[in-house]
Amino acid sequence: MTESLTVRDNRTGTEYEVPIVDGTIRAADIGKIKAGEDQPGLAVYDPGFVNTASCRSSITYIDGDKGILEYRGYPIEQLAASSSFLEVAYLLIHGELPTKEQYDTWVHNITYHTFVHENVKDFMQGFRYDAHPMGMLMASVGALSTFYPESRNISDADNRAIQIIRMIAKMPTLGAWSFRHAQGKPYVYPDNDLSYTANFLSMLFKMTEVKYQPDERLVKALDTLLILHADHEQNASTNAVRSVGSTQVDPYSAVSAGVAALFGPLHGGANEAVLRMLKRIGNASEIPAFIEGVKNGNERLMGFGHRVYKSYDPRAKLIKKAAEDVFEVTGTSPLLDIALELEKIALEDEYFVKRKLYPNVDFYSGLIYEALEFPPEFFTVLFAIGRTPGWLAQWLELTQDKDQKIARPKQIYTGERGLTFTPASERWA
Ligand code: CMC
Repeated sequence: MTESLTVRDNRTGTEYEVPIVDGTIRAADIGKIKAGEDQPGLAVYDPGFVNTASCRSSITYIDGDKGILEYRGYPIEQLAASSSFLEVAYLLIHGELPTKEQYDTWVHNITYHTFVHENVKDFMQGFRYDAHPMGMLMASVGALSTFYPESRNISDADNRAIQIIRMIAKMPTLGAWSFRHAQGKPYVYPDNDLSYTANFLSMLFKMTEVKYQPDERLVKALDTLLILHADHEQNASTNAVRSVGSTQVDPYSAVSAGVAALFGPLHGGANEAVLRMLKRIGNASEIPAFIEGVKNGNERLMGFGHRVYKSYDPRAKLIKKAAEDVFEVTGTSPLLDIALELEKIALEDEYFVKRKLYPNVDFYSGLIYEALEFPPEFFTVLFAIGRTPGWLAQWLELTQDKDQKIARPKQIYTGERGLTFTPASERWA
């Protein structure tokens, strides 16, 4: 039986049969509802797309009420425990887990492409000494489109594949160099003997040693964090990548739009905001006053709440565990105690309970990053590196989706009409 919706337009008395497919109705079918032949079709007003599906996707499944997150059908808990970031990246891009041979080729190709053109180094050095690393990352990943002009040929599958490999390979290099820049330290070239994540740490922290040897427990914790950030279906930055990608621009430009969206404090910038918030609270005794401020609407409890998760974010649980592993190596942080106490109080407080506000992915990740000695402004860069395979998988899906069109929403016009323009020389006379 086909499911459908019967809609009666009380303006005209006409009834419409609107098919329901996959729990959705097509906005175009709603557009057929008109108050008169010469009237515009009915549209849907949905600022922030809170109840609008923009695509069909087989990449990531989320059940926000039950706290379920799966990449290509695999639960995030299993991937975090037993996979690696590059294997997860392969899974997201290719849709299934690699054979040994496919995995080795994938890792080889990504490792081979970690270097960037020397000109990239030159223009990165042109940024101001205090440039925000997200601004540098956004600009430099967008600039890669000028180094690979053939990337504009997005209808060619081989061409798409090589740009995807390049971007996953080069993001840590660009990210690490933005970090070194802020510290006034020389940029470190990739060490292709190291794993993806160990090489990233080397590019971040290597100084005079001949070979940088990161602590394997820290490599594992960072690799897990990258896995946890790898995709999250149609979030703000992925929507930005898809929206910009829908113009058929090259993938570097589309991903730079994703980096821009991620920069905002309501999205990836939240982990930086969490740490600043914890530092500002400073002491567990200040928490009740802070919570009162949140409840009075004077501020937000950063790292809490989510558009989709109305229960504990499954990534937050895993990050809490990774934080414990990291603190075993680095020693604990006084901010952890404040975060734990804040979480405890918030989870019992009616304001948060009623609104189903639970810790999200950003609540504990900042503490790990701080323990790894990253400054807060670098946190979102780590998120961006983790999210890159997800953005690219979504972009790849978009390029092959026959339903997709250039993203171009409607508006409800609320301004003036038909005014008569008087030139400035007369208005100001
Ligand atoms: N602190 C205090 N109140 C909150 C919070 C919060 N963190 N989040 C939501 N609320 C309240 C909000 O004021 C509203 O209350 P009321 O119904 O009385 O007006 C209610 O809860 C519903 O919130 P909303 O703003 O309608 O929810 P949303 O889905 O539009 O926003 C959010 C989701 C993530 C932007 C929001 O929860 C928020 O600002 N959280 C803090 C920032 C943060 O941690 N962001 C990271 C998100 S996860 C990773 C990522 O996507 O990058």
